[in-house]
Amino acid sequence: MISHKEIVIAVTGSIAAYKTCELVRNLTKEGYPVRVIMTEHATHFIGRITFEALTGKPVRINEYDIGMAHIELKNIASVFAVVPATANIIGKFANGIADDLVTSTYLAATCPILLAPAMNPGMYASPAVQRNLQTLEKDGVIILDPSSGVVVCGDEGQGKLADIASIQNKIIELHNKEITV
Ligand SMILES: Cc1cc2nc3c(=O)[nH]c(=O)nc-3n(C[C@H](O)[C@H](O)[C@H](O)COP(=O)(O)O)c2cc1C
Repeated sequence: MISHKEIVIAVTGSIAAYKTCELVRNLTKEGYPVRVIMTEHATHFIGRITFEALTGKPVRINEYDIGMAHIELKNIASVFAVVPATANIIGKFANGIADDLVTSTYLAATCPILLAPAMNPGMYASPAVQRNLQTLEKDGVIILDPSSGVVVCGDEGQGKLADIASIQNKIIELHNKEITV
């Protein structure tokens, strides 16, 4: 049976958003069906047109553009991956806030959910972010821990987006599992 499920990737407002272009390009090049959605803040970092060109599909940002996008997305998603995931989106997910398309899709999703956090090491180490990540893990969300190193602002510590190859492998593993069950 042919599956019509797609990998749904949400991009949020982190400086690491440019790395998601490579991830999306790699997945589409390998023939995986990918759909991108973005938060409004993510568009300060990358334009929707880039992801539209890479996927050949419209990129949804505004929840009220057409119909019930979050429900359509949850129906088609084999995996919902948030790359990169900001401190803000992690906090909203952990607390059930649904005030845009990405957060509404998260709450509606019934597929495996994967988050790849990226932020300043101080933000990542903050009790609030750590508490929220623990909550999400308890809720069954897969977290791909950020790596350590020097971040764009010059600070050093854990907070860099996990490497694209490992995010890609995990997404493919989850997608293949979902379409064969
Ligand atoms: C230059 C710049 C880089 C930023 N990088 C990050 C980041 O890597 N991680 C993060 O959590 N927030 C980062 N922020 C802050 C977020 O953009 C901000 O919290 C925003 O509200 C996130 O919105 P969203 O979660 O709806 O996309 C950055 C802000 C600026 C101005």
